[in-house]
Amino acid sequence: MRGLAYFCIVSAAVYGLAGMAFGMVMAASHDHTLMTAHAHLNLMGWVSMAIYGLYYHSVPAAAETRLAKIHVGVTTLGLWIMIPGVAMAVLGMTEGPAIAGSLLTILGMLLFAARVATGHRVVA
Ligand code: HEM
Ligand code: HEM
Repeated sequence: MRGLAYFCIVSAAVYGLAGMAFGMVMAASHDHTLMTAHAHLNLMGWVSMAIYGLYYHSVPAAAETRLAKIHVGVTTLGLWIMIPGVAMAVLGMTEGPAIAGSLLTILGMLLFAARVATGHRVVA
């Protein structure tokens, strides 16, 4: 595995480790206030990123395209803004970053949908 697929899988493992450590801190402290940030770090960081990595590994030609790189870039940026944003929103500080991160995240999924839907064009 190399390139974009490798980036996605390594990112997923790092997000998974961070999400689990986050979960253990919540469990140990009996303070589950930030559960939603934990849940989305694991589900978007670990699970979704791993799925993206496996897709790009299975369809290497798709991974070489500019659309794929933009998809992974937007998704990564969205995650980095959304997770702290959700924590800030839950803590009642501000909702701006959660909204911005969410919009980038959904844009990322839209780009992935476009990449998958037109995948046959690069796998001739
Ligand atoms: C060492 C690993 C983990 C620990 C210690 C942990 C711990 C926790 C804790 C303490 C909660 C709060 C439960 C509550 O208040 O009801 C929670 C919620 C949650 N966790 Fe984890 N977690 C871990 C890994 C994961 C992973 C790998 C995922 C997803 C792939 C995940 C997804 C979720 C979700 C979706 C919720 C929200 C559940 C709900 O809506 O009731 N967690 N976790
Ligand atoms: C733009 C992206 C997303 C937005 C704006 C969003 C928003 C939300 C909101 C507002 C909640 C309710 C939180 C609460 O009751 O305090 C929630 C819960 C949840 N979401 Fe998402 N979500 C997104 C993406 C995802 C994705 C991609 C997954 C799974 C792969 C996911 C899985 C869950 C789960 C399991 C819960 C219940 C656990 C919890 O309350 O934290 N979400 N989401």
